[in-house]
Amino acid sequence: MRKHIVAGNWKLNNNLNQTETLISELKQQTKTSDAEVMIAPTFVNLWHAFQATKQDDIEVISQNMHFAENGAYTGEISADMLKSIGIQTVILGHSERRAYFNETDESLAKKVDAALVNNMRVIFCFGEELADRKAGKEASVVESQIKNALFHLEPSAFKHIVLAYEPVWAIGTGETASPEQAQDMHAFIRKTLATKYGNAIADDMTILYGGSVKPGNAKEIFSKPDVDGGLIGGAALKAEDFYAIVNAF
Ligand code: 13P
Repeated sequence: MRKHIVAGNWKLNNNLNQTETLISELKQQTKTSDAEVMIAPTFVNLWHAFQATKQDDIEVISQNMHFAENGAYTGEISADMLKSIGIQTVILGHSERRAYFNETDESLAKKVDAALVNNMRVIFCFGEELADRKAGKEASVVESQIKNALFHLEPSAFKHIVLAYEPVWAIGTGETASPEQAQDMHAFIRKTLATKYGNAIADDMTILYGGSVKPGNAKEIFSKPDVDGGLIGGAALKAEDFYAIVNAF
C-alpha cells in the first residue's frame, strides 16, 4: 500500500514568531485522513518547529541541504546537521532551487546520495516548464530529470524516496494542472520507474503533485489513482487551508 503524504513547503516565509503561531494553529486542526503530514519551515526555524511538534502527528522536514558532510561551503547545511536536530526528511530538487540557485541533475544526484547515506528520506522534485509543455516535451523533460538524478541508485534506495511532480507553470500561479494532466504524468512517472526497476518498486512509490493545490481542487486531484498526495506552497501557510487539503483524502 502506498503512503499518502501532504507536505507544506513554507519556502522563504515565516520568521520565528510566525512559525510559532502557525504551528500552534496547525495543532488545533483535526486530521480525518490517513495522510502523513509534513511541514518544511526555513532552516533557522527547524529546531524550534521540531521541538514544538514532537508530540504531534506532524513531521518537520527540510527544504534543502548540501551534499558535503562538512567543510568549506559557507552558508550551507549538511545532512548530519539536519539529523542532529531530529530532521529525517529533506526536499531536494525543487524548481526554485534549480532556477535561482543553479541546482543541476548532477548536483542533485550528489545530494540524493548524501541524504541516503545518512538514512534520510528524500522528497525529490521535478517538473517541466511552460515552454516544455507547449512544445509537447513534458514527458521527456521529466523522464530525464528522474533518470539523471536517481537512476544510478540501487533498487533498495527507493524505499527512502518520495517523488514530487511539480510543473513549473503551475507553481504559485493559481493555474493548476488539471486532474487528468496530473494523472497522465504520474502514470508516466510510474511507468518510467517500472521500466528500470520493475513493477513492485513502481507500484510502491508515493508520487506527490505540487502546483497551486488549494482546498477547492485537492479532492479532485487526489482522487486520481496515481496521485498519492501533495506538496503544497501558498495554501500551506494557512492552517485551515492546509488541513482542508490534508483531509481531502
Ligand atoms: P504553490 O502551492 O504555492 O503553487 O507551490 C507549490 C510548491 O512549489 C510546493 O513545493
